[in-house]
Amino acid sequence: MGQFLSNCSVDSLAIAAQALKDGSLVVFPTETVYGLGADATSEKAVARIYEVKGRPSDHPLIVHIADLKYLDKWISEIPEYAILLARNFWPGPMTLILKRSQLAKNFITGGQETVGIRIPDNSLALGLLEAFHKIGGAGVAAPSANRFGQVSPTTAAAAQEELGQYLNSSDLILDGGSSEIGLESSIIDCTSELPRILRPGAITIAMIERATGLSVTENHKVDQTKAQIRVSGSLENHYAPKARVILNQQPSPGAGFIALAEINTPDDCIRLASPKSIEEFAQVLYSALREGDHQNLAAIYIAQPTGDGLVIAIRDRLLRAAGGR
Ligand code: TXA
Ligand code: MG
Repeated sequence: MGQFLSNCSVDSLAIAAQALKDGSLVVFPTETVYGLGADATSEKAVARIYEVKGRPSDHPLIVHIADLKYLDKWISEIPEYAILLARNFWPGPMTLILKRSQLAKNFITGGQETVGIRIPDNSLALGLLEAFHKIGGAGVAAPSANRFGQVSPTTAAAAQEELGQYLNSSDLILDGGSSEIGLESSIIDCTSELPRILRPGAITIAMIERATGLSVTENHKVDQTKAQIRVSGSLENHYAPKARVILNQQPSPGAGFIALAEINTPDDCIRLASPKSIEEFAQVLYSALREGDHQNLAAIYIAQPTGDGLVIAIRDRLLRAAGGR
């Protein structure tokens, strides 16, 4: 059972940073989803992430840092367009995949020559990372704070529900309220001539093209079962609740239902969310899926929003939650 810390003060962030340094795990809020953090230079601490998540150990982890000045340590090369992306969108919901330095060991990169880096836009996360750097930490490895394949948590309570029983008494859970964005960061591969999106998120194709003046490849649409699986979140059947997720079909009575507010609830369905905008759809989606599981629903029907921008990320997660159906 991790220790739960609400109303985190500067002092509690210093305690949490020290816990990381001592090899413990710290669950912390970010603007995308909650992360399960460990000292990214400690093989032992990182091994516990895999244990607690129940995740295969060859899947790479994102290293979180507080500021661009800590980036150099982790990478050996950076293209001009990646610098533009970093300047435009960090802190923010974006992970850059770059050529790794010696510091990024195989236990972080899954044996690849690249490392994923992110500066999150959340005051608690930045406070924790800054406190960690202050005591000599280089970065915090953090996957989403859920069991492998499950829905990412967007609140501290959801993270505790996912992982609490696997944490021990020196691990911490920092409560920072609900994640503002609600979907995992956009992952952009910056190891080729042009940026490639490996996972769509709130930093959209149009935003990347505007910032870099380059055209973007959408790698996440490639059939990942045939490609080498580099992004575990790109597996089908990820982000899935226990209930069966069914997209764009007439719901059966007693099923859960998620759709934009303008769409009426079909007869005898249990409305789980009525977001008024696309941003709100992203923000409430995971908690609505969780609520469906709390209510022991067998199925959750979802009317997919249409459009581009953030909708692409929503549709990506919905498709995987539905197991590719
Ligand atoms: O929003 C987020 O990115 C959240 C918060 C906590 O920052 N983190 C997150 O981590 O979603 P995770 O581990 O659940 O998903 C990260 C994805 C994984 O699918 C992993 O395979 C991919 O990023 N990844 C990490 N490093 C990579 C690398 N070097 N090359 C390719 N993919 C990488
Ligand atoms: Mg994840």
